[in-house]
Amino acid sequence: KVSPMTAPAIQARKNGEKICCMTAYDYSSGVIADSAGMDLVLVGDSLAMVVLGYEDSLSVTMDEMIHHVRATRRGVKNALLVADMPFMSFRTVETALENAGRFIQEGGARAVKLEGGVPVVPQIQALTDAGIPVMAHIGLTPQHVAKFGGFKAQGKSVEAAKALIEDAQAVEAAGAFCVVVEAVPVEVAQLITDAVDIPTIGIGAGNVTDGQVLVYHDVLGLFDRFTPKFVRKYAQQGKEAIEVFGQYINDVRLGRFPGDKNTFYLSDDVAAQVRK
Ligand code: KIV
Ligand code: NA
Repeated sequence: KVSPMTAPAIQARKNGEKICCMTAYDYSSGVIADSAGMDLVLVGDSLAMVVLGYEDSLSVTMDEMIHHVRATRRGVKNALLVADMPFMSFRTVETALENAGRFIQEGGARAVKLEGGVPVVPQIQALTDAGIPVMAHIGLTPQHVAKFGGFKAQGKSVEAAKALIEDAQAVEAAGAFCVVVEAVPVEVAQLITDAVDIPTIGIGAGNVTDGQVLVYHDVLGLFDRFTPKFVRKYAQQGKEAIEVFGQYINDVRLGRFPGDKNTFYLSDDVAAQVRK
C-alpha cells in the first residue's frame, strides 16, 4: 500500500523527482487523478469556470468550494489534497484562518492554496502557525485579473521579475511548503526556482520548475471556451463524448438500444403464468 502524500514529503522533493499535480473537483475526477499516481490533487477555484460555468474564478464561494472538496476527498486516497482559497476568503488573517479551517475540518483537505506574494505573508504565517500547510501562488494570479487587465504573462520587465523573486522568498520565509508559479517567462521561473529552497510548481513557467500542475478539463479536452498557451491537451474527451452520445441517440431512435444483454427477462414458467 502506498502511504498518503504529505506536505513535508512534497517539500522534500526540491530538486528531486518532479512533483506531478492535477486539479480535480469531485469524487470521480479525484479517483482518476489519484489512480494515475498524482503527487498532489488541487481542488482549484478554476472549479468556477470548468465545472460551474462562471465567466471567471471570482464568483465561486467558500460553500461551493467546500461542497467539491468534500466530494474530491472521497476519491483521493494517496495524493496530497489541497483546497484553493477563493477570492476574498483570505482578505484578513482572521478570515483566512476561519476559511482554511473549514477546508480542513469540513472538507478533509490536508493543505490550502492561496494567491499572492508579499501582501499575503501574514496570512501564510498565521495558517502555518495554526498547523495548516500552505501552497503559495505567484505570477499570474487569476483572482487579480481585473488589476492585470487580462490573463497576461507576468514578470516580463526587470522590476517585475525582481518583484516575483521577492514574492517567492517572502512566501518561503512565511512558511509555505511549495509555491505555484503561473505564466512567467522560463528565465524568471529558473531564477525563482534557484532563489528558494521550497519546490516551485509551474503552470506556464517552462520546464525548469520542481513540478507541474494543469487543469483536469484542459488536459482531457473537456473545456473548450479558451485554452491557454501553456496547456497540452492530451485527449479530446469532450468531442469524443459528443460522438458517443450521438451513437446512443441513434441506437435509441432505431430501436437498437437496449439490447438483449441490457434487458431483464422473467423465467419461462413465471412468464407463462403471468400471461394467463
Ligand atoms: O484554480 C486552479 O486550477 C489553479 C491551478 C491552475 C494552479 O489555481
Ligand atoms: Na486557482
